[in-house]
Amino acid sequence: MRYVVGPVAELPPGSSTIVYPDKVKSGVGVFNVDGEFFALKNTCPHMGGPLCRGRIRGTTAGALPADCQPEVRWVRQGEIVSCPWHHWEFDIKTGRTIFESRQKVRSYPVSVETAEELERLKSGVETVPVSVEGATIVLEV
Ligand code: FES
Repeated sequence: MRYVVGPVAELPPGSSTIVYPDKVKSGVGVFNVDGEFFALKNTCPHMGGPLCRGRIRGTTAGALPADCQPEVRWVRQGEIVSCPWHHWEFDIKTGRTIFESRQKVRSYPVSVETAEELERLKSGVETVPVSVEGATIVLEV
């Protein structure tokens, strides 16, 4: 089933929204990570918290530069969502925890469709695009 999320212009890079398709009662979080769209089920695999209401952030990574002074760097800003209940962190692009575990939140394919593509999909009839006024985010659940 395809679900229209909304215009691309309403979900700029770094932002997210939660939509509620009939098949996913808890909702699906749709994220724009640097112009790419990703979707995760709004249910944390830890204890069922509303994962997609969590903060979007980055994480830390260790580095050992040439001078051998170990340092910790902030990386991947905007690619991690932190569950609001117990702060487990998930990679928005894969749905996997950023720490070692087998836990993974369900992810869904997201596409960006032109107005003409959207109309063609609705009608099931091939059409010839005339102009592109905007684009729409479409989720497959
Ligand atoms: S319910 Fe999400 S971290 Fe516990």
